[in-house]
Amino acid sequence: MQQVNLADDIYYLGFNDRRTNLFENIWPIPHGISYSSYLIVDEKIAVIDTVERSFIDDYLDRIEDIIGDRKVDYLIINHMEPDHSGALKAFIQKYPDVILVGNKKTFGFVEAYYMTPKNVLLVHDDHKLELGKHTLQFQMIPMVHWPETMVTFEETNKILFSGDAFGSYGTLDGGIFDDEINLDFYEVEVMRYFTNIVGKYCPHTQRAIKKLAPLDIKMIAATHGPIWRSNLDWILTRYNKWSSYDLDRGVVIVYGSMYGNTQKMAEIIARRIAERGIKNIRVYDASKTHTSYIINDIFKYKGFIVGSAAYNNSLFPNVEILLSTIEHMAPKNHLLGIFGNYSWNGGGVKNLKTFAEKIKWEIVHEPVEEKDALKPNNKEELLKLADAMADKLLEKPE
Ligand code: FEO
Repeated sequence: MQQVNLADDIYYLGFNDRRTNLFENIWPIPHGISYSSYLIVDEKIAVIDTVERSFIDDYLDRIEDIIGDRKVDYLIINHMEPDHSGALKAFIQKYPDVILVGNKKTFGFVEAYYMTPKNVLLVHDDHKLELGKHTLQFQMIPMVHWPETMVTFEETNKILFSGDAFGSYGTLDGGIFDDEINLDFYEVEVMRYFTNIVGKYCPHTQRAIKKLAPLDIKMIAATHGPIWRSNLDWILTRYNKWSSYDLDRGVVIVYGSMYGNTQKMAEIIARRIAERGIKNIRVYDASKTHTSYIINDIFKYKGFIVGSAAYNNSLFPNVEILLSTIEHMAPKNHLLGIFGNYSWNGGGVKNLKTFAEKIKWEIVHEPVEEKDALKPNNKEELLKLADAMADKLLEKPE
């Protein structure tokens, strides 16, 4: 690929992955993903993060194409997840004198994943590293996305190398900088990356946003997705909204249904909520749509209504997977409604109630449970549940 510069002497070393189907072997990435590393060539040479292991050969070649026979002096490890540290061992084999730059948590990960690190520079908040013309500053942002995560701020050009923060699913198809791309494409992929990967750590993300606010950031270079240099507000506004659980008026309705009776209950609820003037309504079959997409909409909309047929005296399995994910991520500020089908021995609604007790969202109406085909009295109860959700959503102006 052609050489790409963020500024004089600062190079993009990124790769597109269009082969992997599931990121972290969990999350669908139909539009792929990119892994970005960065190189600063000065009196001292520094590389910031590496890339996923399948790109090792081309990655090391690209560094050599730029620096020739010179050696890399510092490898800065903002984040140790293997999508960024995958090339670390090969990197150290090629540049055995390189000094690994990390914080007190970083090197334990290096040891656990790869090897005992030899040459290390331990850094902390506000620590500075002079490369020559370029000065780097480090800030710890734990849990965005792992405990050791930190960011590197290049003071000369005011570039924030942000790791996973402000990253995105989706490959970089020619355009690498935000102003080279129609950002409409990334609207879903940026949010899905945030909700799927960092969503559990919203309070930590909020702390990181506040901590980094005093920096005069002119460019954000994450380890996935576009480099932000012209539309910083686009990404910063969204991250702030999502990580503060600032939810829009709308409802996500999810059901698990074998033969359509629980689905019919969902349709009745959805139609009534629409009649009440709510326009953002997404109805999902938990067996059809991956949790990745459903959880994304749960981070968008305030209302959540979940229905489950009883299955082997328990929850419908795909509903159970979704609810378990929600419990792990524990998003806040939602309204909750519950319905389901008793079948022959119950287990759906019973376990939805257990979920409700754990998640502690505001319940808008008593659970509605039917036995097989929907009867008129329970249809009325479903309409009341829908009305209760609409009433709550309409209480506050949009
Ligand atoms: Fe892109 Fe948490 O790794």
